[in-house]
Amino acid sequence: MYTQDQLKAMVADAAKNEVLSNMAPGGILGIGTGSTANLFIDAIAPHKDHFSGVISSSQASTERLQKHGFKVLDSNSVVSVPIYVDGADEIDPQGHMLKGGGGALTREKIVAQLAQSFVCICDASKEVDILGKFPLPVEVIPMAQAQVTRFLESLGATVSLRKIKGSDQIFVTDNQGWILDASGLKITDPVSLESEVNQIPGVICNGLFARRKADVLLIGESEGVRRQIY
Ligand code: 5RP
Repeated sequence: MYTQDQLKAMVADAAKNEVLSNMAPGGILGIGTGSTANLFIDAIAPHKDHFSGVISSSQASTERLQKHGFKVLDSNSVVSVPIYVDGADEIDPQGHMLKGGGGALTREKIVAQLAQSFVCICDASKEVDILGKFPLPVEVIPMAQAQVTRFLESLGATVSLRKIKGSDQIFVTDNQGWILDASGLKITDPVSLESEVNQIPGVICNGLFARRKADVLLIGESEGVRRQIY
């Protein structure tokens, strides 16, 4: 039996092989955020010269990439990247994902939108039939917090303003936004809900990655890494 950390390391290594065998030298790679993405960054670091640069989805990933010597590019200077690699908090059988546990959802969505292929890397605990057991993160402009909370509650969610772990301080995103975690939603139509939540004034972005879902899943299971294409 593998531990969750071992499964994450296995998918990170598989993602390294996936990227190196599908990207010609000199391309630009999109990179996500979180513990699985961190393992991927470490796994791909010895091959950094294969890439002309990377686009990062958070300040945390940027710092890790720069420590490894990657050239981190401004996403405004790039029209498209062949592959974006990132983790997920949940993924359903169609490849729709719920993300943002690490608070980087908006930048993750921006980089994912530039990608021709989204390679999702996660351990088997993230695979679900219906999204929503993990609270849906919604990044908001602070002055809209109460209004967006009421809207999410009207959908049946229990909403909490994200705080920094182990403290009473509000978690502030890389974009100076706040995060509302909406729990108790049974997300049977993630494509519609993603759009609906994005329409509320003050919402910067929500953690449903349904319109731009995964193209490839590398999932760590007790039998090893399974590769699935959507
Ligand atoms: C960060 C994310 C992460 O991809 C997601 O939370 C999964 O993280 P981990 O790999 O640590 O389980 O969306 O905003």
